[in-house]
Amino acid sequence: MSAAVAPAAVTRSDCAQGAMLTVDLAAVAANTRFFASRAKGEVMAVVKADGFGHGCVPAARTALENGATWLGVTSIAEGLALREAGFAAPMLSWLNPVDADFGPALEAGIDLAVPSLQHLSGVTRAAIAAGHRGRVHLHLDVGMARDGADPAEWPGLCRAAFRGEQRGQLHVAGLMGHLGCADRPADPCNEAGRTCFGWGLRAARGAGLRPAIRHLAATAATLTDPRTHHSLCRIGAGLVNYPTEWWHWSYGDRYWALMTGATAAVYGPVGQDQVAR
Ligand SMILES: Cc1ncc(COP(=O)(O)O)c(C=O)c1O
Repeated sequence: MSAAVAPAAVTRSDCAQGAMLTVDLAAVAANTRFFASRAKGEVMAVVKADGFGHGCVPAARTALENGATWLGVTSIAEGLALREAGFAAPMLSWLNPVDADFGPALEAGIDLAVPSLQHLSGVTRAAIAAGHRGRVHLHLDVGMARDGADPAEWPGLCRAAFRGEQRGQLHVAGLMGHLGCADRPADPCNEAGRTCFGWGLRAARGAGLRPAIRHLAATAATLTDPRTHHSLCRIGAGLVNYPTEWWHWSYGDRYWALMTGATAAVYGPVGQDQVAR
C-alpha cells in the first residue's frame, strides 16, 4: 500500500486577510433553549477549552440564561476561572490527572469526576485536608475509552467511594458515562454503552450508593436517543455548532492556527486527487 502524499503547507497568502471568528451568542442562546426543551432532565453546558474556542465566559453566561443549569469543564483551572468570573452554578470538572491539585476545586464547590481508585484517593486526601466532603461523580467507561473506569474496576470503585461517604469524606453526587459512537445511532456500540451504564448504576446501588444525578448523553445521544438522557445531558458541540475538537488531535491544522494566532497552518486538507493510491 502506498503512503498518502504529504499535504503542501498553507501559507499566509492563501489565507488572504487572515482568519476571523465571529461568535453569534444569539445562536448559542437558541441552541441552549432547543436542548433544554429536548432533554428529559437538566442540561449541562460543556464550556471546556474556552467554550470550544468561543469564549467560556460569554458562552457559559448565555447558556445559563437560556436553560442550562450546570457547567462542565475539563480542567480545574477552567472551573476556577469561571468561579472567579462569578458563576455559582453547579459545575463538574473531568479529565483531570491523578496528581491534580483537587483542593482548590473542592473549596470552590466544583464537583470532580472520578474515573479510578487513584483519583478517588487523591480527592479523598484533598477533602480531608479541606475538612469537608468532596463531591464526586464516579465515571464508568462505557466505550469511549477516554477517561472513565474500566468495568472490571467499577464495583471496587463504588465500594471504596461508599466507604468514603460513610467516613464523611466524600459525597457521591453523580454517576456518569460517555458514549463512544452516539453520532452513529445505528452502531451496536450504543446499545452496548447503554447496557453497560445500566449495569454500572445497579452495581453502584448494590454498593450502597444513592447518587441523585445520572448522566450519559452528550449532544448526539441527546438528539437521537431519549433512553440515554437520565437526569442530565452534557451538551458541548450542540451549543456552539462546532463539532471539530481540534485540541484533541489536530496540532498544526487550520483550526489550530486560528485559535493559537499562528500566521499559517502547518498543513491543510488535500483533495482526493492528491492522495497516492
Ligand atoms: C465527558 C464529556 N461529556 C460531554 C462532552 C460534550 O460532547 P459533545 O460536544 O458531543 O456534546 C464532552 C466533550 O468532549 C465530554 O468529554
